[in-house]
Amino acid sequence: MDRVQIFDTTLRDGEQACGCSMTVPEKLRLAAQLEALGVDVLEAGFPAASAGDFDAVSGIARRVRSASVAGLARARTADIETASRALDGAARPRIHTFIATSFIHRTRKLRLSQQEVLDSAVNAVRLARRYVDDVEFSAEDATRTEPEFLCEVARAVVEAGASTVNVPDTVGYAIPVEFGGLVARVVEAVAGRAVVSVHCHDDLGLATANSLAGVRAGARQVECTVNGIGERAGNAALEEVVMSLRVRQDQFGLETGIRTREIFASSRMLAECITFEPQPNKAVVGRNAFAHEAGIHQDGMLKDRATYEIMDPKDVGVPESQLVLGKHSGRHALRYRASELGCPLDDGALERAYAAFIALADRKKWVSNEEILSLVRRAARGEASVSREGMERTE
Ligand code: KIV
Ligand code: ZN
Repeated sequence: MDRVQIFDTTLRDGEQACGCSMTVPEKLRLAAQLEALGVDVLEAGFPAASAGDFDAVSGIARRVRSASVAGLARARTADIETASRALDGAARPRIHTFIATSFIHRTRKLRLSQQEVLDSAVNAVRLARRYVDDVEFSAEDATRTEPEFLCEVARAVVEAGASTVNVPDTVGYAIPVEFGGLVARVVEAVAGRAVVSVHCHDDLGLATANSLAGVRAGARQVECTVNGIGERAGNAALEEVVMSLRVRQDQFGLETGIRTREIFASSRMLAECITFEPQPNKAVVGRNAFAHEAGIHQDGMLKDRATYEIMDPKDVGVPESQLVLGKHSGRHALRYRASELGCPLDDGALERAYAAFIALADRKKWVSNEEILSLVRRAARGEASVSREGMERTE
């Protein structure tokens, strides 16, 4: 119970998002990287959705050995049979079957009664268990489902043979305290007979916070995606969940099996396969996640990186922190960069170089190494003069 399983759905829920579709060879390459990353469960696709999805799930099932490979299936006979065929040859196959349980989905989308939804869920799990030992059931739109009904469904699917019960916040509607409360009720309902899982979407920017609240309430599987890609605003980001559990071990006392040094490589590989990069300020994997521009921060970093960094970038596979030289930077960082570039500066040259640097930085978003080298060389030769503005900066 001190281990949280990481269920990666980059290749299924992630791929469903706009601009994220991937070819079969891309999915195979990413699956190998996700295995190297150490995910416990790799959801490879939705086999009944298309021939391409079937082929991707089938190829991944035959190659991946250390992670369980999951195929998604609606609570329908044909979907479950297709998923079981796609998973043929998997070392650890999992059928992940789902049906929506909320009032709005039952009445407006499915046009089914509570009893019909309950029966479909139970029948789907029973059928899936004829093919595989490992069956996960998801109650789609769980967070807008009547809690008593959700618990009734959870108990019934466990009785039918599900070993994981997933509580999806399908529309990203929950807030952490409420979500934690709901997960606690499901944990109580299944009473240790199945793993409770959480699956959060980021419509309100709360997917990671909600996932962690779920873990606090007893969930021991988190469903997430690399770079947080996924339907609409995305899913909980794997790197955020994993690093939160690791950096705040003091709060959670839980571990994952993720080799965190593979996080950045996984993020890069995904960005190369889809049409967009993570936003620059994206936690853990964004271009600026370990970049410091403000003079006061750079000064602190040069003295002890723990002043402004809660993680060592190397722990997530990022080669090093960056001190970005821009108009907020100070003399310490400029002197440090000049020596890194092979041009150490004495105090006089530093003042000249700093004045020239600030004049340039005020006109630009940042100053490149080439520009810095050129201005520090000129300062070292005594060519630049000190401006008033440069003198006023203090760091
Ligand atoms: O968001 C959701 O409800 C899903 C389920 C299929 C698990 O992706
Ligand atoms: Zn989802």
